[in-house]
Amino acid sequence: MPAIVLIGAQWGDEGKGKVTDMIGGDVDYVVRYSGGNNAGHTVVTPDGQKFALHLMPSGALWPNAAIVIGNGVVIDPKVLLIEIDGLAERGVDVSRLMISGDAHLIMPHHRALDRVVERYLGSSRIGTTGRGIGPAYGDKVARMGIRVQDLLDPGILRKKLEIVLRERNQVLFKVYNRKEIDVDATVEEYLTYAERLRPYITDTRQVLWKGLEEGRTVLLEGAQATMLDMDHGTYPFVTSSNPTAGGACVGAGVPPTAITQVIGVTKAYTTRVGSGPFPTELFDDFGVHLRKVGREYGTTTGRERRTGWYDAVVAKYATRLNGITDLVVTKLDVLSGLETVPICVAYEVDGKRTDEMPMTQTEFHHATPIYEELPGWWEDISKARAFGDLPANAQRYIERIEELAGTRVSIVGVGPGRDENVVRHSLL
Ligand code: IMP
Repeated sequence: MPAIVLIGAQWGDEGKGKVTDMIGGDVDYVVRYSGGNNAGHTVVTPDGQKFALHLMPSGALWPNAAIVIGNGVVIDPKVLLIEIDGLAERGVDVSRLMISGDAHLIMPHHRALDRVVERYLGSSRIGTTGRGIGPAYGDKVARMGIRVQDLLDPGILRKKLEIVLRERNQVLFKVYNRKEIDVDATVEEYLTYAERLRPYITDTRQVLWKGLEEGRTVLLEGAQATMLDMDHGTYPFVTSSNPTAGGACVGAGVPPTAITQVIGVTKAYTTRVGSGPFPTELFDDFGVHLRKVGREYGTTTGRERRTGWYDAVVAKYATRLNGITDLVVTKLDVLSGLETVPICVAYEVDGKRTDEMPMTQTEFHHATPIYEELPGWWEDISKARAFGDLPANAQRYIERIEELAGTRVSIVGVGPGRDENVVRHSLL
């Protein structure tokens, strides 16, 4: 009963879609387990159709897999319906969608608070996507959240909304001088979503247990990434959920013993959007070069991504934290043409060298990367399909990544196309 977890090993946008493209045909259930429409991925089908998805897992386009949005996700129903309609219009069968009744809903006050709190934080802002993610998880933890199942009971929906808005409206109005959210209008709006979403709402954990018992393959598709994890990332500059492998169990209701493989995706360099520490960040021409050649602009917000060299300390941390069995290194081609390629192998923190993640945030903020310079390569690597096709120096770079992470590199991305990969070990 194989459950496979797919996670980002850095700060997001590592190219997880590439992996889902590769294993899609063999998966029976594809599950989102954390985050919401803060994520974003563009999926290109074999016939060249482009889909921009935020809430749906990227496996939504595989014709044979059931699509599951697990309890750990926060759902903006309006966005979800736009995605459902967009897919249906283009002939994708959305009857395969199942939404957990226990997932929480993003409500209008969450979006309003996300934006206004960020504005008031000024230079201390997190740089959120502004989609209401943090406030929605905040209400969940405070036991004031509204769940998908509440859409099925209009009386409960109204009651819960009245309770939460009694307090949140005071904050919006008295603290931030914003308009209060109207209960009646919100209930009316959400009941229209209820009618449309009703057929998809179910107890998704039961569905997944049954699938696993029947020996089916379940892919738990992470959104965001390890270093954006609430507990294990660069708090407070994180998202408000647990995108790490442990979060997959909680966010989908799948037991840890069902997981047989954890695929971690990392770029051959590093990017980050939003604020927060990033030791290998580049502020020079190399940073601009990586952004330009790697086309590093956010899918959800269009923001320029911050860019830097590969950080092996982060990779080792992500490997151990998630139990990564296979690393996928994407965008190696972006590094072609450099004289030397630096890898951050350790940090200097307060005059001391460490190759582990520092214990405190203050230390991480002050960590200076220690680089090992590897010789570069000039060749076009986009045609490489076997490891031996790569120039010797590119092979060496990958082998060094492998050694430092302590796990095998199974796939190397050598170009944007879905087939532009070097396969060392097949994933399934
Ligand atoms: P939030 O998830 O909108 O609350 O944003 C919190 C932090 O996570 C910000 O730094 C965002 O830029 C970052 N973030 C959220 N989703 C993604 C993603 O899909 N890729 C990369 N960064 C993300």
